[in-house]
Amino acid sequence: MEFEKRLTEIADRVTVALDQLIPPAQGPEADLLRAMRHAALANGKRMRPFYVIETGALFEADDKTLLRTAAALECVHTYSLVHDDLPCMDDDDLRRGQPTVHKAFGEATAVLAGDALLTLAFKILASDETHPDPNVRLRLIERLADASGARGMVGGQMIDMLEDDSPRDLNTITRMQRMKTGALISYSVEAAGIIGGASENARQALAGFAQDLGLAYQIADDLLDATGDQAVVGKTLRSDAAAGKANFVTILGINGARERVRLLAAQAKQHLAFFHERAHILLQSVDYVLDRTR
Ligand code: IPE
Ligand code: IPE
Ligand code: MG
Ligand code: MG
Ligand code: MG
Repeated sequence: MEFEKRLTEIADRVTVALDQLIPPAQGPEADLLRAMRHAALANGKRMRPFYVIETGALFEADDKTLLRTAAALECVHTYSLVHDDLPCMDDDDLRRGQPTVHKAFGEATAVLAGDALLTLAFKILASDETHPDPNVRLRLIERLADASGARGMVGGQMIDMLEDDSPRDLNTITRMQRMKTGALISYSVEAAGIIGGASENARQALAGFAQDLGLAYQIADDLLDATGDQAVVGKTLRSDAAAGKANFVTILGINGARERVRLLAAQAKQHLAFFHERAHILLQSVDYVLDRTR
């Protein structure tokens, strides 16, 4: 399938870029850099980079700008996983097919590696190697800060961590997901639109696409947690139920959650109609999210 070939190509390019962007493990702080590399160079799916680069291709945006923006976003995503796995959060041992950072390097180093990946992302975007126009760079930085922060991913993680006496209905869970997972996925297509100079109509189509896709992506993640094969997924599974967490699967049931993913996938595709045939790889990516096993 063309999509899978593209995803593999993009994943390889992003890993090479991250390898160059994360400083070598030298000096007395070498363990910090080793931990960053352990997390970032491991076998992630690189879906967010894929969406930056493939959406950017709709606008024939510059390759290097897209790749560096994709790498910056993957740094933020990776940091979110390192912290998400910590004992004070989900307390998980396996990530991307290997021990979590705190298991391999200790808790303090894991906190610091997450911090340093987060700040590296902004350094990458601020560099004039990313884009010659400082206005474009500032816009990329501002939107990534919004997507990552208290009203975005981190805020969603906060809601996820609340003790379970708070009401956990579908609306609360949907809002939590939009923040914890949706915000960074939305950023991936938004950033491509900023870089590519997308029209208002194109931006809106992309925003609608990403909103449905992001939700489908997290429901698929919750389904994998409940039903997936840990050896294939490469991270600790069955941890949501063990932690007594409410998510889409606990509320909708497995079949209800599957049905919801199908519905959202169909809606996501409708938004892409705006781009006609040019969006065919993005369309294929929706089917992948629908059926993913990792
Ligand atoms: C896992 O993200 C956490 C969520 C926000 C759903 P991914 O499933 O994209 O994880 P990697 O990057 O492939 O490891
Ligand atoms: C985490 O959601 C989303 C983040 C912002 C990291 P999960 O806790 O469900 O992610 P996994 O299942 O551990 O990858
Ligand atoms: Mg979590
Ligand atoms: Mg987790
Ligand atoms: Mg999960």
